[in-house]
Amino acid sequence: MVASVRNRVAVMHGVNLDQLGRRDPTQYGGLTFDQLQFHIDEYARELKLELRYFQTNFEGEFVEYLHGLEGLSDGILLNPGAWTHYAWAIRDALELTGLPAVEVHLSDVERREPWRRQSVIRDLCIATVSGQGVEGYRAALTRLKQELDKDA
Ligand code: DQA
Repeated sequence: MVASVRNRVAVMHGVNLDQLGRRDPTQYGGLTFDQLQFHIDEYARELKLELRYFQTNFEGEFVEYLHGLEGLSDGILLNPGAWTHYAWAIRDALELTGLPAVEVHLSDVERREPWRRQSVIRDLCIATVSGQGVEGYRAALTRLKQELDKDA
């Protein structure tokens, strides 16, 4: 039997992530959103992952993108921004994808305001990476790749 390659990953950025570069550099670093994407592309090349990207500031669009991933993606890397902390509809939509997902945050959400410690998606994710800045995306993609390679 020929082993199937599972290397398609949806990278999903939520609310306000498009404003990187204008946001607090002490939390998020100085990179713009385009620079962040550039680095993620580099990591994907190293790891031989095929990425598709999505960013929106509209929760319903984020939900609908998750709905549409069936058959298009093998895993999900997501940073929902502030939705992480309260958007139960995003949790439900992530759950229905049935795909392995890794949650990533640029800042260390555990060491900021108490409301950022809650994540409504954490228990659905195989891993959470936070507080490592852009490098965290490399760690998150690496973890996802390990998972996708498991059943290859
Ligand atoms: C974030 C952390 C969230 O608490 C915040 O609302 C964001 C970005 C991060 O990447 O550190 O918008 O997800």
